[in-house]
Amino acid sequence: MKHVLVTGGSGFIGTNFIHYVHKNKPDWHIFNLDALTYAGNPANHSHLEDDPRYTFIHGNICDADLLTRLFDSHGFDGVFHFAAESHVDRSIAGPEVFLHTNVTGTFRLLEASLAHVRKNTEKPFRFVHVSTDEVYGSLGVDDPAFTETTPFDPSSPYSASKAASDHFVKAWYKTFGLPVVVTNCSNNYGPFQFPEKLIPLMVLNILDKKPLPVYGKGQNIRDWLYVADHCDALLRAFEKGESGQTYNIGGGVEKSNLEVVKTICELVDARTGRPDGSSRELITFVADRPGHDIRYAINPDKSFEKIGYRAGHSFEQALSATIDWYLENMDWVRSVQTGAYREWIKSHYET
Ligand code: NAD
Ligand code: DAU
Repeated sequence: MKHVLVTGGSGFIGTNFIHYVHKNKPDWHIFNLDALTYAGNPANHSHLEDDPRYTFIHGNICDADLLTRLFDSHGFDGVFHFAAESHVDRSIAGPEVFLHTNVTGTFRLLEASLAHVRKNTEKPFRFVHVSTDEVYGSLGVDDPAFTETTPFDPSSPYSASKAASDHFVKAWYKTFGLPVVVTNCSNNYGPFQFPEKLIPLMVLNILDKKPLPVYGKGQNIRDWLYVADHCDALLRAFEKGESGQTYNIGGGVEKSNLEVVKTICELVDARTGRPDGSSRELITFVADRPGHDIRYAINPDKSFEKIGYRAGHSFEQALSATIDWYLENMDWVRSVQTGAYREWIKSHYET
């Protein structure tokens, strides 16, 4: 059995990754360490509660003693580090927790991993750091896509904290020889995404016939990556990647926010039997996000050549499947729309 530590495994991507690995790696025992912030939901894994290949640990990645105990008792073969504060708008409203979790938390995990590797010199180990294309900053409409050597130029407190964490991870490779791989991916979408992010927020606002808040003119462009493709890429990076290397992971689908929102409107109208075009009327242009990056786009060449990753899902099909998932899982939706969620929506959109 391989023992694998997944941090932040009760959040959006971590949940999908655990389900993916549980299905595809029958000889892996997954240890999910999650602090269960507003974005973490242990019920995402309720079907694994009694599974001998899944262990949930409620704890914080900043807790050095806990990390030491976990590494000593479980002798991890690898770490997939997802745990983070992940929402750009929240980082503008309250940046400090981003520094603690994304930078200090990553540092603590690197320290625990290094101590473990030093105690177990014969045992293979790999640390996969899950990061973002936002570290590279903003592209103009005609600029070439980000490569792994694009200089870092983060814009938001969130992306600054992720950029710092990426630098720490690389430093632990260069200085201490910790076997790390860094992945920088584009905007994920799919099941279990917390409804503060663009796609689920729009789907749920349409269902509730609420305004669809589009920042600025809706012309900002993102490269949309279906979460199942991302999970595949992460496994490839773990198994085929070279230590010390970065791999950019994209979906190969560049779309403006307005295009995405209009497509969601059409799909939800079709699913719910509403008159075609009726949900578009809910689109409301609101004040732009400060420091809003214009465009992200990933050059996928290195990941294709070195780890054989290529995005496999079409945007239209995967977006439809995502919308279906939300429609079929309204209990999950209502369970995450708690008081804390409603407070965020109120303070961010209604004041
Ligand atoms: P998320 O916000 O949905 O989930 C984050 C998870 O981390 C939650 O379960 C939360 O409880 C947990 N967590 C937060 N602070 C913690 C702490 N101190 N200790 C332990 N657990 C803690 O995030 P996500 O969208 O699933 O993103 C996962 C990772 O992928 C993040 O590192 C993010 O920067 C990166 N990423 C996300 C995207 C995207 O589009 N969502 C794209 C690129 C990179
Ligand atoms: O690029 C990868 C990043 O993608 C990840 O690192 C982040 O963790 C993840 O949150 C995401 O960041 P974005 O800021 O791009 O995602 P978000 O869903 O917040 O916004 C997507 C786009 O939609 C962005 O241009 C802002 C816009 N937007 C977002 C919201 C929430 C709106 O127009 N209205 C909204 O209400």
